[in-house]
Amino acid sequence: MPLREGILLVGTGRAAHHLGHAIARAGLPLAGVVGRAVATAKPLALALRTTPFGLDEGLPPAALTLLAVSDDAIVPVAARIRARDGVVAHLSGASDMDRLLPHAHRGVLWPVMSLSPGEPADLSHVPLVVDANGEEARRALLDLARSLSGKVVELPLDQRRLVHLAAVFASNFPVALFAEARALLEQGGIAPDLLTPLWKATAAKAAAVGPEQALTGPARRGDQGTLDRHLAALAGDPDLRRAYALLSDLIAKRHPRTLDAR
Ligand SMILES: NC(=O)c1ccc[n+]([C@@H]2O[C@H](COP(=O)([O-])OP(=O)(O)OC[C@H]3O[C@@H](n4cnc5c(N)ncnc54)[C@H](OP(=O)(O)O)[C@@H]3O)[C@@H](O)[C@H]2O)c1
Repeated sequence: MPLREGILLVGTGRAAHHLGHAIARAGLPLAGVVGRAVATAKPLALALRTTPFGLDEGLPPAALTLLAVSDDAIVPVAARIRARDGVVAHLSGASDMDRLLPHAHRGVLWPVMSLSPGEPADLSHVPLVVDANGEEARRALLDLARSLSGKVVELPLDQRRLVHLAAVFASNFPVALFAEARALLEQGGIAPDLLTPLWKATAAKAAAVGPEQALTGPARRGDQGTLDRHLAALAGDPDLRRAYALLSDLIAKRHPRTLDAR
């Protein structure tokens, strides 16, 4: 079934918001937005100029049904929507597509991006990972992915799980550490925004020249005096002190001191 027969979006959270707007912007027809109840689906359906549905209602036919629901909800939601002629896919990098059983044509469309509330994201440079259990699902998901992004890659589950693990290191941990850094300044009575230019420039530089070139700091330089002072300053926060010691140790082992690391 070609995508012009419609895409049904199940879910009303962050991923549904961004995917829904990207689909609408790409000029692909939405068959509707499905919430737990019709009232939950109304705001997003209204924004996307499509019809709201509740999960227990009769759902319209669609070439592709996208389950933009929490990972743990994929199995129960897939079981609740009646057998569909088209393709059924979820958006989860870490989840097996067989969570979509009993649907015959199933697959995955995973945006490798952190999608937060806010303005609809431009997905045109966001990598979209596709996987499918057969040619019909593969064709539909590749069609959609290529309409949304110039970076489409097909990966099986074990490789998706590896990318998901790597993404935790590339995005999730740095954001959590940024929160710790801001809290340290706040505790010292210093405006946390002082670090924002550094934070933005660091990601841009590491992407431009590569992390090996971009990495500086006391652990890489082997500045033991500074490392000891930092550890002493963290004496009142054993968790953060342990994290500091572990990360510094990792840097020293994996990124030996070079003349560039000043
Ligand atoms: N956000 C990201 O950065 C991101 C990036 C890539 C992929 N994804 C994937 O996208 C999917 C959705 O994530 P999200 O970030 O959009 O989550 P979210 O903002 O928390 O939204 C989750 C959606 O699932 C619905 N839901 C949860 N449990 C349900 C249940 N038992 N029955 C029916 N509906 C249920 C929620 O409905 P209620 O609001 O009514 O509870 C909500 O609409 C996940 O598979 C995630 O792995 C997310």
